[in-house]
Amino acid sequence: MSYRVGIVGATGAVGQELIDLLHRRHFPMSELVLLASARSAGKTITWQDKSWTVQEATPESFETLDIAIFSASGTLSKELCPEAAKRGCIAIDNSSAFRMDPKVPLVVPEINPEAAREHNGIIANPNCSTAVALMGLYPLHREFGLKRFFAATYQAVSGAGAAAMTELEDQLHAWTKGEELTVSEFPHQIAFNLIPHVDVFYDDGYTKEEHKMLNESRKILGMPELKASTTCVRVPVLRAHSIAINAEFEKPVDVKRAQEVVGVFEGAELVDNPAEKQYPMPIDFSCKEKCGVGRIRRDAAFDNGLALWVSGDQLWKGAALNAVQIAELVAKENLVTPKASA
Ligand SMILES: NC(=O)c1ccc[n+]([C@@H]2O[C@H](COP(=O)([O-])OP(=O)(O)OC[C@H]3O[C@@H](n4cnc5c(N)ncnc54)[C@H](OP(=O)(O)O)[C@@H]3O)[C@@H](O)[C@H]2O)c1
Repeated sequence: MSYRVGIVGATGAVGQELIDLLHRRHFPMSELVLLASARSAGKTITWQDKSWTVQEATPESFETLDIAIFSASGTLSKELCPEAAKRGCIAIDNSSAFRMDPKVPLVVPEINPEAAREHNGIIANPNCSTAVALMGLYPLHREFGLKRFFAATYQAVSGAGAAAMTELEDQLHAWTKGEELTVSEFPHQIAFNLIPHVDVFYDDGYTKEEHKMLNESRKILGMPELKASTTCVRVPVLRAHSIAINAEFEKPVDVKRAQEVVGVFEGAELVDNPAEKQYPMPIDFSCKEKCGVGRIRRDAAFDNGLALWVSGDQLWKGAALNAVQIAELVAKENLVTPKASA
């Protein structure tokens, strides 16, 4: 079986990774259609020896498609995902538009693949920090029973899109030339800085990104009572988010057992040998499918607690890779009927 696949937002940071990963993982495609805004219509995108002409995304774009992966904006997803679903094209959405909609499954294939079966034409992909954090937390939850966690994120600029990556590079170039730095994608200069502000602030003092980490973890893990408090920070790293986590569990914890369960979990790679200066770092986990988990130690504040550090490519596990894994799940479980064979 092969599928006609569309990427909405193909010219963006996540869209470019989607083109790469769909090919790299040999997703069965009879056709790939690249969609973006009217601004990009007519542009050529190439990947290895293939090239495509970008088309403007419209409701009619989905008439002939079987699967559309959205990585544009929440506003566009709200408008076009239902149009795709209406036309028998399953929408896999990277934006936050549908993640907390009770009718839309929020899926991390290593954790809750069965949720995808409940789709009504739309499947949501989680927030990038949440997906990366869960690659460390979930195997520990299975073993010890997660009760609550605290987390601080170290989020790469690519999490804010292609223009944000360029902004960090431009600021570094300007700094080396002694020129004034231009700030437009972030609230402050990001070069040589940390910004404890990702997405908008809510009345309770947390940001929307911090709310997403709590609410999406609850939905993915099926734990509506889970407690978590997070602080999300933008750092001058180009690619791959890192998260420092302190988690409390129901059962007594054991560091060796924790390392074992992380080591065999399919979404994680254990890198935990501090004596040899081995721990996960964003530079080592860029363009890697697994997220690195290390610095696992008994938490000094919780009774049944573990402290850990996770680094993972949020453009991959936090967005494009997870979306392609969902597409693979859709294919494996026949969750959509390809139009060509209908
Ligand atoms: N970056 C990450 O790590 C990450 C992780 C998880 C989720 N996400 C989510 O994924 C989505 C894309 O993020 P990104 O980082 O790839 O952003 P980006 O680099 O800014 O790319 C945005 C893409 O959306 C397209 N677009 C914007 N407005 C459009 C419209 N009206 N019609 C059609 N296409 C439109 C752009 O096309 P043009 O080039 O034509 O403007 C571009 O292809 C966002 O919802 C983001 O929250 C991103």
